[in-house]
This record gives sequence, C-alpha cells and structure tokens, in this order.
Amino acid sequence: MSEMNIILLGAPGAGKGTQAAVLCKEFGVPHISTGDMFRQAVQAQTPLGLSAKSFMDSGALVPDHVTIGIVADRLAADDAARGFLLDGFPRTLTQAEALDDVLCRRKKELTAVLNIDVPEDELIRRLTGRQVCKVCGATYHRVFHPSPQGERCGVCGGALYQRVDDSEATARSRLLVYSRQTTPLIAHYTQRGLLKNIDGLLPIDVVTEKLRELLAGMNSRGA
Ligand code: AP5
Ligand code: MG
Ligand code: ZN
Repeated sequence: MSEMNIILLGAPGAGKGTQAAVLCKEFGVPHISTGDMFRQAVQAQTPLGLSAKSFMDSGALVPDHVTIGIVADRLAADDAARGFLLDGFPRTLTQAEALDDVLCRRKKELTAVLNIDVPEDELIRRLTGRQVCKVCGATYHRVFHPSPQGERCGVCGGALYQRVDDSEATARSRLLVYSRQTTPLIAHYTQRGLLKNIDGLLPIDVVTEKLRELLAGMNSRGA
C-alpha cells in the first residue's frame, strides 16, 4: 500500500474528529489533531497551553507561528514517517504553505485533502449537542450519536463533558473564523487537484464509507 498523507478539512462540527478516529485505526496512521494537542496542553497547564487557552476559549485561531511549530515537530516523530492524517490543520494559507515546506524537506507529498461539507445550521446543532469523554476522547452527540451508557463513555466508562468552546455563541464565532480564514484553502487545494468533497450531512457510517472509497481510489492510482 502506498503512503497515506491526508488532510481532513471541514468546518467546526463537520465530523473531522469522528471520522479520523475510524480511518486512522483502519489505515494505521497517526491522528494528528491540533485541537486535541492544544486541549491536552491546556489541561496540563504547559506554557503552550497557557498561551493557547484564551484564543481557544474565544473561538479564535491560535497564532500561526505557534501552531506551525507544533505540527512540524509532530510530523518529525517516527510514527508519522509512513503516513499521517491531519485534522484541523492547516486552517490558514500561511499554515498550508508552511506544511508544504515541511513536507518538501521530508520528501513527502499530500495524497488527498478530504473536505467534509456540512451546512451552517446543522453545524450549530452538532457543536452544541456534542459530548466528549474525559478519559479517552471518544466523541458523542446527545441526539445524533448518543453514548450507549448515557452520561458515561461507551468505550471506557469515563465521564462525558462539553467543550468550553461549544456554547452557541462561541460556536458561531468559530464558524465565522472558519469562513474567513480557512475556506480559502478549498480553492488552494482544488487548484492543486487534491481536493475531494464529501457530503457530511449523511449518517456517520455512510460518511466513513465514502471516505474509504475515495482513499481506496487514490491508493490504487498512486500505488
Ligand atoms: P478543533 O479541536 O480542531 O475544533 P474544530 O475545527 O472547531 O472542529 P471540531 O473538533 O469542533 O469538529 P469536528 O469536525 O472534529 O467534529 P466532530 O467529529 O467532533 O479546534 C479547536 C480550537 O483549537 C480552535 O478553535 C483554535 O482555537 C485551536 N486550533 C486548532 N487547530 C488550529 C490551527 N490549525 N490553527 C490555529 N488554531 C487552531 O463532530 C461534531 C459533533 O457532530 C459530534 O457530537 C459528533 O458526534 C456529531 N457528528 C459527527 N458526524 C456526524 C454525522 N455525520 N451526522 C450527525 N452527527 C455527526
Ligand atoms: Mg475535532
Ligand atoms: Zn472514553
């Protein structure tokens, strides 16, 4: 199998984390989520976490130089040498260009940019109803994807919590930030022939199947 160097693109709430969890397990590549990395740093109160927290809580982006540095370091780890899936990075043209530089230095190329497309009113419903496991990070939704164990995680039994940035007001700010700062990446990767669109309104397992089909197609051509 050829190497899978994938970007999952999509607005807040589109389902990037949900799909990444399944695909990374299947394809055996690391799930590199800048949002998860920042949340872990905030929880551990590291200097990175302390500087990222106010941006995240308000729904703004963490400055590019900070974000680019942590992704460059993460891509240098051994487990990213045979493929990776980026979730939530890049989110600005500056980050996309920095990623190109990093990959070029490592003699790697992107396999595909998978864009999960969901309309705004649905995104708000998804974000405001999301629940995340404190222990293993599994993601649920009160209505669309309830945990079989109610207020506890169906995987590990851990307690579920709501992300601080999932209030309706902050969710709306995040969507605005996405449309201003991240949507230009759609044209950027379309021009390079890398973008694949997926209808993210479909049920979770159907979206997974579509992503699988797209990746299988890329793989048989690239092998
Ligand atoms: P980050 O953690 O990346 O958040 P995000 O991009 O806003 O995306 P989300 O995690 O909210 O959504 P998702 O697409 O993963 O959806 P999920 O699968 O959970 O970033 C957080 C913050 O960190 C940023 O605001 C910023 O401050 C900072 N940051 C991160 N990266 C950065 C970067 N590169 N540069 C600068 N700053 C950065 O699904 C959502 C809900 O919907 C769940 O409840 C799920 O169960 C449900 N759901 C999923 N799929 C479906 C479906 N098909 N049908 C019905 N329900 C579904
Ligand atoms: Mg996520
Ligand atoms: Zn759990």
